[in-house]
Amino acid sequence: MSITGIDSITYGVEDVELCRRFFGDWGLTPKGEDFETLNGGEVKIRRKDDPRLPPAMEPGSTLREVVWGTDGAAMAPCTDPNGLSLSFRKSVKRSIDARGVPANVWGRNARIDQPAPVYPRAEPVEVGHLVLFTDRLAQMERFYVERLGFLVSDRYPGRGVFLRCTPEGGHHDLFVLQTPASKPGVNHVAFAVRDIYEVFGGGLHVSRQGWTTEIGPGRHPVSSAFFWYVKCPAGGLAEYYADEDYVTPAWKPRELTPSPENFAEWAITGGIDGHTRRQASGPAAETGTAGRASRT
Ligand SMILES: [Fe+2]
Repeated sequence: MSITGIDSITYGVEDVELCRRFFGDWGLTPKGEDFETLNGGEVKIRRKDDPRLPPAMEPGSTLREVVWGTDGAAMAPCTDPNGLSLSFRKSVKRSIDARGVPANVWGRNARIDQPAPVYPRAEPVEVGHLVLFTDRLAQMERFYVERLGFLVSDRYPGRGVFLRCTPEGGHHDLFVLQTPASKPGVNHVAFAVRDIYEVFGGGLHVSRQGWTTEIGPGRHPVSSAFFWYVKCPAGGLAEYYADEDYVTPAWKPRELTPSPENFAEWAITGGIDGHTRRQASGPAAETGTAGRASRT
C-alpha cells in the first residue's frame, strides 16, 4: 500500500459558524456540512466536543483527524506519536484539469499572447501539506518513515523534518517541527493553489474579508514556494502556496540550519491591506491611500 496524499482533514472547533465563514472566504466549496477543494479533498468542521471526534492532541480548536489517501487497500486506523488520529482509504480525490498559468522566465517564454491572471479570490486545488508541532521529533520521524513509508526530503537536525509520502511529487506533505517549548499541536494546514498569482489574489481577498494575515506574501527558500499565512479560527494557520519544488528519487535530502533566512527569503509580517494593496503594517498604513501613493 502506498499513501498518495491528504484526502480529508477534520477540525474540532469552538465556533463552527466562524470557521464555516472562514473556509468559505478561503475559497473552499461547501458540500453538505463540509467543504472540499477543487480536487475533492475534504475539510470537515465539527464542534470540539462532538462525541464522534477522536481525542484532541492539544486544547482549543485544532485538527482532530487526518485521512490519508492511498492507491489501494485500506489500512487500520492509528494514532501518531503526537496523538493525532490517522485513518486511510483509497483516495477519492479527483484528477482535474486545474492548470496554473506559467511565468515567463529568461530563456523560456511559456506564456505567449496570454496575460497573467489577476485572481479575485483563490480556489484551492488541494490540501497540500500539514505542519505539526511536536515534543518528540525522533519518534514522529520514525513513525512516518518506518510505519507509513514516508521519505525525508530535508531536515533541520534536531529541530524539524520535511516528509513526503510519494517518492516523486511535491517537496513535503508533512513538516514536523520541535522548538524548545513546543507541545503536540497544529502549526498550519497548507492549501495548494494554481500559481503565484493565485497566492496573491487569495491573500488579498481574505484580507478584504477581515481575516488576519500572520505573515505573507513571502517565499520559502526550503521548497522554493511562495506563501501567504492567515490566522485560522479552526486552529493554527492556513497557508496558500504555489511553485513548490517537485522532487524525485534523485533528490538528496539536505541538512539545514533553522534560521529566519531559511524560513523566508522575504516576507511581509501582517500582510497586505486588501483594499489599498499596500503593506498593512508600518508607518504608511496609518496615512491613508494618498499618503501611501506619495511613497511610490
Ligand atoms: Fe507550509
